[in-house]
Amino acid sequence: MPDKRPDRPAKPHRWNDRSSDDKKRPTAAARTRDALGPPVPSSEITPRALYLRRREFIGGAIASLALGLPSPSNATPLSFEKGPFGTAEPLTPKKDVTTYNNFYEFGTDKSDPASYSGALKTSPWSVAIDGLVAKPATLALDEILKLAPLEERIYRLRCVEGWSMVIPWIGFPLSALLARVEPLGSAKFVAFETLVRPSEMPGQRGFFQPLDWPYREGLRLDEAMHPLTILAVGLYGETLPNQNGAPLRLVVPWKYGFKSIKSIVRVSLVESQPPTSWNMQNAREYGFYSNVNPAVDHPRWSQATERRIGEGGLFAPRRPTLPFNGYGEQVASLYAGMDLKADF
Ligand code: MTE
Repeated sequence: MPDKRPDRPAKPHRWNDRSSDDKKRPTAAARTRDALGPPVPSSEITPRALYLRRREFIGGAIASLALGLPSPSNATPLSFEKGPFGTAEPLTPKKDVTTYNNFYEFGTDKSDPASYSGALKTSPWSVAIDGLVAKPATLALDEILKLAPLEERIYRLRCVEGWSMVIPWIGFPLSALLARVEPLGSAKFVAFETLVRPSEMPGQRGFFQPLDWPYREGLRLDEAMHPLTILAVGLYGETLPNQNGAPLRLVVPWKYGFKSIKSIVRVSLVESQPPTSWNMQNAREYGFYSNVNPAVDHPRWSQATERRIGEGGLFAPRRPTLPFNGYGEQVASLYAGMDLKADF
């Protein structure tokens, strides 16, 4: 994350080693059993007529996802229902959500992903799910879309750089994908990888490479199984634009945005904490957990406040950053007994 603006992390320096650190935790099952969120109020459930009308779109939407039509011009409406964990905060304008992006495979400027991701071919697309599972599988996108109904999840996204957005994602719980492959008892972490395709990803070509590809991320299994954690296939009611991680990306709203890996092609269940891109790039600055935490500053800037994109520009007053990005009620118990200043 090059250091061109006050709210951007610095240019990468070098790779740092980080040894695996598989700490003993209560089982994922024990942690996730109690984690189900509040039921959706009936007022938030999509009226049946609207739902049925949206249903008409789903065939086309799945076809569009499968065909990997470029976005946003060919974005297709998705059929979905309102999900839990919504917020009444104003949504970040779609224009900002789709033009102010981090997707280093397409370049390091905020405008690069929107400018250069149009050539990314997202069809055919499949995701390999392997490692410590009873039923490893390589699933095509349309098979993945049948795993669970699509929901709208309106989440805050807080980037480690000090800015934030409110985004209406369309997706489904990651737990549905994991259940499909039946994780073994020995699985403790989930590792994710993004596509490597330099011919369509200009940021993966050339002399300056900000990260070692593929972009990698990871979660503890209980974090991955948590109902807040989703795989998103759309935003603002339509299929994901390429710059936002089409056709399938992770969204973990209580962690800094870099954990929410885009354009995923591999999900592996593993025993030890997996290497992750920004932690490998600079372990002192980017922790594996990276839970949003106003009490733990980045070594080079404060994390106490944030700039809400679309809210009055650079001179708008910054707003306080909330622990776990405001999702503490749902997720703080995952970290009971941990020192989050050490495990930042
Ligand atoms: N995933 C990949 N593969 N490559 C990236 O560079 N950037 C991350 C994350 N996922 C990134 C990625 C960062 S730093 C952030 S803040 C979010 O994506 C931004 O998501 P958005 O552009 O949809 O807002």
